[in-house]
Formats: sequence, C-alpha cells, structure tokens
Amino acid sequence: MSFPQSRPRRLRRTPALRELIRETELAPRHLIAPLFVKEGILEPQPIDSMPGQHQHTLESLRKEAHEIASKGVVAFMLFGVPERKDPQGSEAWNPDGIAQRGLRVLREELGHDHVVVADLCLDEYTDHGHCGVLDAEGHVDNDRTVELYRRIALAQSVAGADMVGPSGMMDGQVAAIREALDEAGLERVGIMAYAAKFASAFYGPFREAAECAPRFGDRSGYQMDPPNSDEAIREIRADIEEGADIVMVKPALPYLDVVRRAKDETRFPLAAYNVSGEYAMLKAAARNGWLDERRAVLEVLTSIRRAGADLVLTYHAKDAADWLTG
Ligand code: PBG
Repeated sequence: MSFPQSRPRRLRRTPALRELIRETELAPRHLIAPLFVKEGILEPQPIDSMPGQHQHTLESLRKEAHEIASKGVVAFMLFGVPERKDPQGSEAWNPDGIAQRGLRVLREELGHDHVVVADLCLDEYTDHGHCGVLDAEGHVDNDRTVELYRRIALAQSVAGADMVGPSGMMDGQVAAIREALDEAGLERVGIMAYAAKFASAFYGPFREAAECAPRFGDRSGYQMDPPNSDEAIREIRADIEEGADIVMVKPALPYLDVVRRAKDETRFPLAAYNVSGEYAMLKAAARNGWLDERRAVLEVLTSIRRAGADLVLTYHAKDAADWLTG
C-alpha cells in the first residue's frame, strides 16, 4: 500500500474550489481613490505620465468622485493644486483655498456614506516645492512646519474632511495635529498618518500631477532612507503613540516587506499607498501590449492586501472596482 500522496491540485481544479479556499479578499471597500483638484482651470487636464488621471476642476471632481463611488469605493484622498504659491505655502490653510473648496464639493456630493481624507502637506503650496518652511540654510524647519500643519488640519476639517493625512514626515506632526484638532472641538476628525514614507523615485509622476517637484535638493532630509525597515517600525509605533488612527506605508510594491512587518508587529489599521510611479509603469507596459492590464492590476492590488494592508490607496481604484464588481 502506498502512502496517500498530498495533492494540492485537487483544490485548484474548478473556479468554485479555488474560490472556496481563497485566503485574501480584494473588494472595492479596500480601495482609496486619490484625486487632484486644480485651481484656475476650466477643463480637466490629463496628466501625461498617469494615463487616465486628471487634474480636476471642481465640477469634474464632483463627477469623477460620483462615478468612482457608484462602483463601491468608499474612501477618497484629495490633493489640491493652488494657483498661487509662496515660501510658507499659505494657500494650504486658506478657508477658501482650492483644497478646502474641493473638500466641500466632495462632502456635498458624497454625504456621509463615504469617507473623505485630505492630504496634509505643504509641497503643493510652497514656491520652493518642499514639504515645509525653510530655515536660513535652506533646510526644512521641523517645528515651524508642524505649527503650519496644525492650521492646515483645522482648515481641512472645517471644510469637511473626515480624516487628515499628514504626509510631510516631520517629527511630532501627528501629536501636534491631534492636539490642534482636539483643542478646536474636532475630536471626531481622524488622522491617517503617512507613517513610513520613503524617499522614493516612484513619486515622479505625482510631482507632475501636483506640480510640487522641489526646486532644489530632494526630500531625503525628511523622508525615510529606502534600506531601513526597523526604523520604519519605529516611525509607525511613534505615530500610533501620538494618536494616529490609521498608519500608512508608502510606496507599496518596493516595501511589501515593511507592510508585512508593520501588520504583524502592530496589528493596527494599516494602509499602503500604491504610488504614481507604480501606476505609471504598469500603465506604460499595458499600453505597449506587454502586460494584460486587468490581470496585472488585480494581482498587484491583491499582493498589497496579502502583505497585510487593510487599505490600498491606488489610482487604479475606479478600474479595479469595476473589474471586481462587473
Ligand atoms: C507629498 C506627497 C507626495 C505623494 C503624496 N503626498 C509626493 C512626494 O513626497 O514627493 C506621492 C504620491 C504618489 O506618488 O502617488 N505631499
């Protein structure tokens, strides 16, 4: 008598068997759609390096959000692109600045059945393109920048954000924003912290989309060094202690090991940002006919979920939600 052989293929034989034992679920509710709204344009502007994505007018923002929401996506992340930039980035906390107007439009369009998150940073608003204000030597001044982040958090919350997403990687930013919100009676507003954000080449297309490439230098004085994963865990723990409600790893694909560690070591609500460069390379290959876009996108998004992310910020949200429900 021969010993009964293990036959893993038995469970792969039919779609029903495969569905029965599937370990990772990917659904529209796991996706967060990033959107850009730009001041002073009359028509939505296509972003060349991100095919399918636009800088929106307030009106096209409303339509796009509506369409994405109709496919089952629950949450949105909004970026504003102002007309006027200055050294401080003061449009970022203008109650009538473009981001705040965009937030009001989303709130109005989506009601409270959806979650609206405001990216909270200064790089789209400063004339030098850095994520904070500069000191005399041209370095980003951490503490003065954090003071400005407090103002932005209040303006975004008053405009209707359910959560703010500080993405500048300043030390102490989460604690300061939490304090500012609580002092203003905005305890209900949450913080989705870009906790482990790496200084990545994969943000290239975003800098076209948000018109925020630094005029000099780079962001490696505040964003994380790509080789470091212990440090990423320390950053994530610090943000949790400071009061973050959801923590994020960014980018996603080159950092799936960090995503897995973050989930295992914290068991905290975790998001991963499938960034502009990850989107652009897949789109480019698909356009050349080198990849099957649908299969590649769903495989990528599943891999991010499998690595341990509860939520995936992705420019593929609309298409993916369509494929997942269609
Ligand atoms: C900074 C910010 C960036 C992204 C989101 N927030 C760019 C940067 O750090 O240069 C990148 C997102 C993407 O590439 O999709 N406010």
